[in-house]
Amino acid sequence: MTQATAIYGELLRRLDSEGRLRRIPAEYRPGMVDLCSNDYLGLATRMQELQAEFGRRFGDAPMSSSASRLLSGRQRHYAMLEERLGDLYRRSALLFNSGYHANTGCISALNHPGTLFVCDKLIHASIVDGLRCGGCEFTRFRHNDMEALRKIVAKKSSDYDRLVVVTESIFSMDGDEAPLRELAEIKRSNPKVMLYLDEAHGFGVRGDRGLGLAEEQGLMGEFDILILTFGKAAASSGAAAVCDAEMRDYLLNTARSFIFSTALPPACAAWTYMMIEKIEGMTEERDRLKSLGEEFRCQMPPHAKELCPSTSQIIPFITGDPVKAVELARRIGDAGYLALPIRRPTVPPGGDRIRLSLNAALDIGRLSTLFDILESYETGIS
Ligand SMILES: Cc1ncc(COP(=O)(O)O)c(C=O)c1O
Repeated sequence: MTQATAIYGELLRRLDSEGRLRRIPAEYRPGMVDLCSNDYLGLATRMQELQAEFGRRFGDAPMSSSASRLLSGRQRHYAMLEERLGDLYRRSALLFNSGYHANTGCISALNHPGTLFVCDKLIHASIVDGLRCGGCEFTRFRHNDMEALRKIVAKKSSDYDRLVVVTESIFSMDGDEAPLRELAEIKRSNPKVMLYLDEAHGFGVRGDRGLGLAEEQGLMGEFDILILTFGKAAASSGAAAVCDAEMRDYLLNTARSFIFSTALPPACAAWTYMMIEKIEGMTEERDRLKSLGEEFRCQMPPHAKELCPSTSQIIPFITGDPVKAVELARRIGDAGYLALPIRRPTVPPGGDRIRLSLNAALDIGRLSTLFDILESYETGIS
C-alpha cells in the first residue's frame, strides 16, 4: 500500500464497518435452493439438455465476433436474432452486449439539445449511468407517481422539444409494476412525450408469448423504445433495443456502447435465438411463476408483507439495515437457500433487504424452513 493508494483501503474498511462491503458469493452448494438468480423460467436449470440441442443445431456458431458489430464480417447469427425479435414485436431490433450497454448507450444517444429526461425515482443504475455519460438534463418523479409525472410534463413541456419518460416495467428491486396504461395516456396527451421502457424483468415472464408487461397489457406499440435483456429469463446474455427502423439506424450510428465494444460471440446470439423459441411457448411456466409469487407473498410474515410492494416474481424482504440484511442472508444461506442482501447504493438508504427471486422450477414445499426463519426474524424469536 503506498501513500497514493492508502485511501482505497480506508474506504473499503469504512464500507465493511457500515455492513456494506460486497463480496463475491461462493459457488452453490449441491442441493441449495436458488432464490437469487434471475432465471425466472427455470431455463438455466435445463442447461445439459439445452446445450445438447444447441450443439446439434448451432454448434458451428463462432465463439468470438473478433470485432465490434460495425466492423465484423460475422453477422448471420445477430441478423437471425434481430429478425426474429423484429417479427415478434413487429418493429426493428438492435442487439447490445448487455442491458447495461443498452441503457448507457441508448439513453446517452437520445440526448440532444432540447431534451429533458423524466425518470422514475427507482430506475436502474445502468439508466442513471446513461444519463451521466450523456451529460443529460434530467429530473425524477416519485416512484410510480403518475400525478407527479403529469405535473412535470405540464410544467416543462413548453421549455423543451422532447420529454423522454424513462421507467422499468417490473422494478428490479421492489418487484412492482409501472402503470403502463397511464404512461401511454400521458404520451397520447402530449406530442412532445416519448416513452422508454426497460423490460429487463418483464421479458420472458409476462405476456402471451413472453414479450413483456407491455405485451400483457396490449401496449407494445405505445413505447418508443423497449429494452429487453437476455441474462435473466432467457438464460443467456446480451440485450436488445426494440424500436422503429429509423430509431434503430439512429442508435447504431450514435450509441457509443454499440459502436466501441466488441460484439458478443455469435454463438451467444444463436443461443438467445434458441431460448426465445422456447420462451414463446412457456405459458405454463409463466402461469406457475405468477401463482408462486402469490403463494409466497401469502406465506410471508405480516409486517414483511406490509412492506412488500411486489406483484411479481421479485420479492423484497426489507430489513431496513445493511448489517441485519447481511446477517439474515447468512442464516438463510446456512439453511440451504441462496438469497443475497441488497444494500445502499443499489437501494435507497433504509431500503436494505434480502431480494428473493422466484423461478418456475422452484418447489414451494422446500421453502418451509425459509418461512420459519423469516417469521422468527420478524418476531425476534428464533
Ligand atoms: C432493470 C434493469 N435494467 C438493466 C439491467 C442490466 O442488464 P444486464 O445484466 O444485461 O447488463 C438490469 C440488471 O440487473 C436491470 O435490472
